[in-house]
Amino acid sequence: MKPINRRSFSQLASLAAVGMAWPGGDLLAAPDAAAKRTEQRGFAKGFLWGSATASYQVEGAVHEDGRGTSIWDTFSHTPGKTFHGDTGDVATDSYHRYGEDIALMKAIGLRGCRFSIAWPRIFPNGAGQPNQRGIDHYRRFAEALREAGIEPFCTLYHWDLPQVQQDKGGWQNRATAQAFADYAGYTAGKLGDVIENWMTMNEMRSFIEIGYGRGEHAPGLKLGRKDLAQARHHAVLGHGLAVQAIRAAAPGAKVGSAESCDSVIPAFNAAEHIAAARKAFVEENAAYLTVMHTGRYTEGYLAKLGADAPVFTPEELKTIATPTDFQGLNIYSGAYVRAAASDSGYDILSKPASYPHMASPWIHIAPEALYWGPRFAAEELRIRNIYVTENGCSSADTVAADGEVYDTDRVMYLQAYLTQLQRGVQEGVPVRGYFLWSLLDNYEWADGYSKRFGITYVDFATQKRTLKLSAKFYRNTIAQQVL
Ligand code: FCB
Repeated sequence: MKPINRRSFSQLASLAAVGMAWPGGDLLAAPDAAAKRTEQRGFAKGFLWGSATASYQVEGAVHEDGRGTSIWDTFSHTPGKTFHGDTGDVATDSYHRYGEDIALMKAIGLRGCRFSIAWPRIFPNGAGQPNQRGIDHYRRFAEALREAGIEPFCTLYHWDLPQVQQDKGGWQNRATAQAFADYAGYTAGKLGDVIENWMTMNEMRSFIEIGYGRGEHAPGLKLGRKDLAQARHHAVLGHGLAVQAIRAAAPGAKVGSAESCDSVIPAFNAAEHIAAARKAFVEENAAYLTVMHTGRYTEGYLAKLGADAPVFTPEELKTIATPTDFQGLNIYSGAYVRAAASDSGYDILSKPASYPHMASPWIHIAPEALYWGPRFAAEELRIRNIYVTENGCSSADTVAADGEVYDTDRVMYLQAYLTQLQRGVQEGVPVRGYFLWSLLDNYEWADGYSKRFGITYVDFATQKRTLKLSAKFYRNTIAQQVL
């Protein structure tokens, strides 16, 4: 008999179609051996599967229960700033409908829920008098999650800075770092009995670079190099101060952050390019992940800024690198890197116009980012516990005549990325869980409601929720623990 692996796929398929016995061979091992292989390939039993959302993107209810104004209220209500002038005033109305959202999580089989607390719900004026109704709301939400067997993972700052704080200079003002830590400590002290896992901030890189550098997100500023570098420094300092404040207020807490990871991929799987990508990972994340885990700004980063480098003290660097329990990585895309003879030792390769992307043009498809990002974080920054705190994509979803949402492109994206995550986990990269962005279509910042990221379709006129094909794909993956 000819070896089976010389047969083409179509020959195999036609054999099966006519009900013929398949010939033996390596590829067609006995069913129990196949099951064993699958088991070895899959994710560990305790691997935490979850979804992620953020307060301003889903809550709505912006005037309810004493909530103060945030910079996103101001920004989204300023003409010309967001797509169609869309705001988060109503969003997915999850402030009221969180019970329904939790039921969806349960139906998908999620065991973790990443959400954020709106700072202006707890301190409507940024600091000073706290608002008990804000605390009560998040307590009810966390308790409902726990009752459903879902672990709450709480982010304390997902970009909705109290406007009052911005009026005092926002992240340009060092005092904001301390105000944030005070709010973080207060909130963890009040909710530490129902929430064990805390993240200080979400994507400092995004809210600083896009909000204070490019002016495309709140507060819409375009700072010069020096001011921007100082704002970055205040953000990471705020993170470090908050880690300490949370630990002091809630001694059992597990603390980390969710940072956007500039994930670099060796262009070829060869030692010199892998080495170059390692350098790139450390350098490209210098102002955020790297300083948070090493307590120093790289020479490359400081040299690039020259006279515009931030002003800082050794004591502040120590605070920034306060040890954490885990690091969250938000990974959507990646860049290809190869070795170079330059000072940095690497080149980040440009992408041609034909490079494939998802509905949001910034989501270039780079599945290996989910392998190399966590791996480099573990190997270069010595991070022992990693969660992928965001990964997902937008799609031009529509409801089909049969009522289903066939987001096959999102399924393609998730299949490809999760296969790479599985590869890393199999090799021992310490990723403990994965939070898909997002549970629901929601308010996508300056893109308003034009970009749908959910695995649940939301009809924003009626708030009707429909699980998409991708939700069913995710449910199946979770149930089987294998791609
Ligand atoms: C991330 C943000 C998140 C969401 C996704 C699509 O950068 O953290 O709030 O907007 O992008």
